[in-house]
Amino acid sequence: MPHPLDRRTFLQTSAAAGVATALPSTLPQSQAPSVKRSGPRPMVISSANGNRFKNGGRLTCVAQAFTLMEQGSDVLDALIQGVNIVELDPEDDSVGYGGLPNAEGVVQLDSCCMHGPTRRAGGVACLEGVRTPSKVAKAVMEQTDHHLLVGHDAQTFARQVGFPIEADLNTEHSRKLWLEWKRRTDANHWLDPKQQSQLGFEAGLHMVREGLIDPEHYYGTINCNGVNKEGELCGVTTTSGLAWKIPGRVGDSPILGAGLYVDGQAGAAGSTGRGEANLYGLCSFLIVEMMRRGMKPKDAGMEALRRIQANTVRKSLLNSRGLPNFNVNFYILNAHGDHAGVSLYTSSFAVCDANGPRTEPTEALFPGKPSE
Ligand code: GLY
Repeated sequence: MPHPLDRRTFLQTSAAAGVATALPSTLPQSQAPSVKRSGPRPMVISSANGNRFKNGGRLTCVAQAFTLMEQGSDVLDALIQGVNIVELDPEDDSVGYGGLPNAEGVVQLDSCCMHGPTRRAGGVACLEGVRTPSKVAKAVMEQTDHHLLVGHDAQTFARQVGFPIEADLNTEHSRKLWLEWKRRTDANHWLDPKQQSQLGFEAGLHMVREGLIDPEHYYGTINCNGVNKEGELCGVTTTSGLAWKIPGRVGDSPILGAGLYVDGQAGAAGSTGRGEANLYGLCSFLIVEMMRRGMKPKDAGMEALRRIQANTVRKSLLNSRGLPNFNVNFYILNAHGDHAGVSLYTSSFAVCDANGPRTEPTEALFPGKPSE
């Protein structure tokens, strides 16, 4: 059974940069309640990939962000340095460099960030050629009067403020999977009004079922939220979006209130999973508003998931039980450090506090899998 590290030991090890790799990264489900009071802040919560990828370094996203916050870094700076690890890691094919491309084989990235203390926000959508869209989102926040830049013009902005632009963000892995998908379908993403079937979508789901694509990476994303000792809240979400999407498709990740919402007093929430389902109800905003009215993170998250279920009526989005045939996850944190990871179907999420980084099971609304 893993022993939680005492706070002093974790801080010493993380400050020594690297011993955190020796920490237990996964708790048995029976020992891992999805909601708890974490004790002293700081506290960082993210999607599960935030405690998996290290880009050849020694710390995962949540451990990096926690360590920087302990050292007094601005919360958003710490979170963005954390998600940069995942964006830059070619092994995570859902975020940044090497993210699964769109239907034309082009990697298009979305991101947004929110800074609770200053009430500022920034985002980019459909950005090509920059490995770290979260940093460009922050530049939009800091260097413009706007909240969202998109497409070619987002790239122009990135170039103008000093980001190098690359011709192609595919890795060998992402390109091979795209070619495999091309082989299986004519890539006609437009809905057939008679059949309401989606050939390309179905071919992608087959690749998930065959184990070619991590189920959490089909709509893969990282959301990471944090609160520091002073109770200051921030958040960031970054993604390559839905694999094989129609070029130009933007999901929930860069949309304030959908893929992320932070209120300096009430809390922060962000998402991964089917963006279209979340966009319909702006569920991150909904969750934070419910917390403002007194709900606990887990209860607010479960209510948002029930809203998604109620809004999912299209036959092609329902499984044999009549339930959504996709997953959506929310990562929720309030200013006290109370937190929850919730999802339609069982999944996992990452946290880091004084006891170190770890991966825990989400609280699921439904049993079984989306496909059952
Ligand atoms: N949640 C990520 C997306 O749908 O693009």
